[in-house]
Amino acid sequence: MLNRYFGVFVILAGLLCGMVSMTTPVHAQQKGEVPGQTLGVNSDADLWRYVRTGNAGSTQMKNELSAVMIQSEGDNWRAFRNGPLSNVGAYAVLGIIGLLVVFYFIRGKIRIDAGPSGDTILRFGTIDRFAHWLMAGSFVVLGITGLNMLYGRYILIPIIGKDAFAAFTTVGKYAHNYLAFAFMAGLALSFILWVRHNVPSKIDIAWLKAGGGIFKKGVHPPARKFNAGQKIIFWAVMIGGLSVSMSGIALLFPFQTTMFADTFALLNVIGFNLPTDLTAMQEQQLNQLWHGIVSLALVTMIIAHIYIGSVGMEGAIDAMNTGHVDRNWAKEHHNLWVEEEDKKARPKPAE
Ligand code: HEM
Repeated sequence: MLNRYFGVFVILAGLLCGMVSMTTPVHAQQKGEVPGQTLGVNSDADLWRYVRTGNAGSTQMKNELSAVMIQSEGDNWRAFRNGPLSNVGAYAVLGIIGLLVVFYFIRGKIRIDAGPSGDTILRFGTIDRFAHWLMAGSFVVLGITGLNMLYGRYILIPIIGKDAFAAFTTVGKYAHNYLAFAFMAGLALSFILWVRHNVPSKIDIAWLKAGGGIFKKGVHPPARKFNAGQKIIFWAVMIGGLSVSMSGIALLFPFQTTMFADTFALLNVIGFNLPTDLTAMQEQQLNQLWHGIVSLALVTMIIAHIYIGSVGMEGAIDAMNTGHVDRNWAKEHHNLWVEEEDKKARPKPAE
């Protein structure tokens, strides 16, 4: 008897629920499970759009960064970092090493054509060499530890294993963070010491037209203290170094800068159409990508510089080693500078 009444009750309840469900929207039926309802937005699509576009109103978080629940640009950032940035960077670094090896086998070491004279001339004083090695030494460590952050997991883990890689990367990360300041100091000092020698001039064009004389024996286009090739290196290191330093500081102290929004606003004045309403997270992602792009370009260029300043050219390293270079080397590569130095050293005629 009781069972029969219970059966009727279940059927009636079922019918009632069915009727309610026909008149109630789907999201209201799932009360408590659909966040769209609790927020009072029109639809779930609205809610997820708010979440996806980082609308702070979609969470209870007051802080703009914590309020971001889904950050779609993160996918683009990761895809670019692990895709084109890593690939092009690897091709550039390996490509320049390959080119230099080929160049070495074709051209060989660039010798002093007239042979060493045995007489020397002061090229860089102590302060110049200190500035160079402060900048160069820190850059080499920054370059190696930076490359490790991008490629280490693919190259080192199979060789040294995960634990050793983790230890190396942790030490490398600290070295990278702190030596950045040594690099900046070296960069600033080198700029102050050498900028006056790096102002572009007419003779640079002739030097470039002659390919700097590096491809042919016995060709020595005129140059002052720094030739056109060195001026290019100087300005690339200064501008690239400043840019990499600024983006590096922004990475060290995250979410404080609006450098990309500001730069994009400036570029828009000259006709670009770039977004200027960047979130703090997007700024950070762009900082990271830019830091990687400029660093890889600098590393590629500096590999060529290290080659020509060491094994690639006889007598060059002395300039940054003892500071004194062979007079014949100086006459072949920097003839106008030697003339200026000799003029300075000549005793002034008595009046
Ligand atoms: C680590 C190996 C390096 C070696 C063996 C080396 C060697 C040299 C030499 C011999 C010079 C003087 C050239 C001359 O007398 O005309 C020089 C100049 C210079 N170096 Fe380096 N260098 C090294 C790394 C670096 C790095 C890492 C940077 C920058 C990040 C750098 C930046 C410069 C600049 C700006 C100059 C002056 C312009 C020029 O000569 O190109 N060097 N280097």
